[in-house]
Amino acid sequence: MEIANAIVPAMASTTDAAVVAPARRVEGQTRVPGDKSISHRYAMLAALADGISTISGYSPGADCAATLACVRALGARVRQAGDHTFEIEGCGLRGLQPAPSPIDAANSGTTMRLMSGILAAHRMRTTMSGDRSLSKRPMRRVIDPLTRMGAHIESHEGRPPLTITGADLHPIEHAPEVPSAQVKSAVILAGLQTEGRTTVNEPAPTRDHTERALASFGAHVEVSGLRVSIQGGQRLHPVRLPVPGDISSATFWMALAAGTPGASVEIQGVGLNPSRTDIVDLIRRAGAGVTTEIEGSGEGEPIGRLLVTFDSPRSFTIDPEDVPGIIDEIPALAALAAMMPPGAELVVRGAAELRLKESDRISALATGLRAMGSEVEEFHDGFHLRARPLRGATVDACDDHRLAMAFAVAATRASSPTTILGASAVDVSYPGFFETLGRLTRGDCR
Ligand code: S3P
Repeated sequence: MEIANAIVPAMASTTDAAVVAPARRVEGQTRVPGDKSISHRYAMLAALADGISTISGYSPGADCAATLACVRALGARVRQAGDHTFEIEGCGLRGLQPAPSPIDAANSGTTMRLMSGILAAHRMRTTMSGDRSLSKRPMRRVIDPLTRMGAHIESHEGRPPLTITGADLHPIEHAPEVPSAQVKSAVILAGLQTEGRTTVNEPAPTRDHTERALASFGAHVEVSGLRVSIQGGQRLHPVRLPVPGDISSATFWMALAAGTPGASVEIQGVGLNPSRTDIVDLIRRAGAGVTTEIEGSGEGEPIGRLLVTFDSPRSFTIDPEDVPGIIDEIPALAALAAMMPPGAELVVRGAAELRLKESDRISALATGLRAMGSEVEEFHDGFHLRARPLRGATVDACDDHRLAMAFAVAATRASSPTTILGASAVDVSYPGFFETLGRLTRGDCR
């Protein structure tokens, strides 16, 4: 099947497929879609601000479209003002309106968890549902603290759909069991709308986009080490903000370059927030050359370019303390390990959270990469991959965008074409992924 047909969004994701042929040469420059995490946050805060915000470079992916649809259903006015630029007229703090019907977070865990924090402080009843994958994902991690704050949340045994009856909340101190930017953000967004001081004590650092976004919208957030606090009742002013390119999307091109002899890829306009750039060190640990250059602050978020060159691929490990900083990048790193010379190894430990993402990423990666020739041993919290010569195979992306992209990158080093089932899942974060893959591999991707 031609790629152009395979990624038509209307096609059922369980029946679509993409065929990726081996690449001969990897070279070029590219930009990546707007950062998914930052797009969600800007849209949500704009919906709570007093006035009209303009967000440019907004992620074109389905996840962030779901957030826009949710805030629109709750009364914010959303107008597309250009390519990836949206004007959002906010309803003011606690000013969202009842939605006429259940709102749909689609495939997006970030939408559901962060919107839960916002809705917990609105005195109305809202039902939020999701697709088949999201309906399996754990929500107790937000239900518990938001319930302690005074919201009433019904769920299906801790999973979506959620029906949230908001209230005048009281502040709490919360210590999440697992490091999670989504949980931190849900509690801080609820705290923004709660009289008094709400605090989250993180078990390990996680991405700080909510803290930075709140500051950009004029709210003061106190951060001291792993402790994040917010004084409730601060009103948000409208903003004009650009969203930098998504470093998690850029990671697929870093892996492609790091794993292909002679390769060199430059990624421009990418977010280089230090809470997201651990991946750069990991790619270096895996033997590639990476240079980064910060070009601007993107009003609150650093932005710049990344140049990745093939050098001397070698075995690497991802230890438990590495995981929170690069959790979304593990599929791409697994692809990189699989592309390495036979005998190279990747050991990942302390990553049980991977089983709770858009798919069980440990089991789905192991199954797909084994089919392509890698040796993979699974652990409950990770895996051990030994590189072997890769061959073309049929692999299932399990409706997971990052798996579809990881298999596509690995496929460029296989001895024959690979068929990726469920390839249109890339649209969740990276519409146009296969076209860019084709361009960077000189048209060798059909
Ligand atoms: C995200 C946080 C991470 C990440 C997800 C996006 C965010 O999840 O895996 O893709 O935008 O806050 P957790 O917070 O559950 O670790």
